[in-house]
Amino acid sequence: MRDAARFLEDLGVDLIDINMGCPVDRITKGGAGAALMLDEELTEELVLAIVEAVEIPVTVKMRLGWDEDTINAHVLAPRLEQMGVAAVAVHGRTKQQAYTGSVNLEAIRAVVQSVKKIPVIGNGDVHTHHDAKRMLEEVGCSAVMVGRAALSDPFFFCQTSSYLRTGREPVEIGLAARLLFMHYHFSLALRYFGEEEACLLFRKVISGYSEFFGKKERWRVAMNCLESVQEYLDVVSELTPDQFPPEIRNPKLCPESLYVHLRSSSGNLLPASAVI
Ligand SMILES: Cc1cc2nc3c(=O)[nH]c(=O)nc-3n(C[C@H](O)[C@H](O)[C@H](O)COP(=O)(O)O)c2cc1C
Repeated sequence: MRDAARFLEDLGVDLIDINMGCPVDRITKGGAGAALMLDEELTEELVLAIVEAVEIPVTVKMRLGWDEDTINAHVLAPRLEQMGVAAVAVHGRTKQQAYTGSVNLEAIRAVVQSVKKIPVIGNGDVHTHHDAKRMLEEVGCSAVMVGRAALSDPFFFCQTSSYLRTGREPVEIGLAARLLFMHYHFSLALRYFGEEEACLLFRKVISGYSEFFGKKERWRVAMNCLESVQEYLDVVSELTPDQFPPEIRNPKLCPESLYVHLRSSSGNLLPASAVI
């Protein structure tokens, strides 16, 4: 991991985040993910080796501990701070809980109180902007990390940050802006992964987007076996309401042109910052 960290630093990454949160057995069986929390001494040795090997910040993402009887995030966090870790993110569940039960805000709060000055990022079950506020207020953490909510709603971040800044309920994001954003996402996926992989990816992500579309099931079924750009375009033109403009019903899948539409056609629907 030390060599990997140096390699990444040479590539120009901004920070290294060490994953001590993954509960999946395939990962923990090899001693990685949440299993790192079981052997505190070895883990500290590992983290120190990485911190000393690179100049960029090293952060750690962890769970509360392995199970209810071995909760130790509040013990590890201050020791990691002493070693020079720049921030810790804590998912308020144990490895054994995986994703069951609910997040333990009190235990994340104990981690916040255990460190002197590094930021603690609270994570788990932030599904709405109200949850984000509650996490910040009740836990006293410096930031919140959002996982699953962002998978179905890419606008979650701009809406939540606007709510946290202003205290006003965020403006609803309409279907037009959501579709346009989906085209932007698909066109970037095409550019980065190519047609085959982008289509496979979109079979998965459509279930998130379609949560907010009227004909949810039809979108899912139609995209479920997506194989080509042409099929994507056919589904979009069939399921998009007739009155929507051409850049939404028959998009040209070029990220730059969609970016322009997102910025200009959105009006108060979509702050430009949401696009980046
Ligand atoms: C599809 C998926 C992949 C994830 N991969 C990782 C990972 O590689 N490392 C990690 O620390 N957490 C991972 N997580 C966990 C999330 O970072 C987060 O801790 C967890 O989902 C709880 O936050 P949430 O309630 O906002 O989703 C993953 C979660 C999901 C849903």
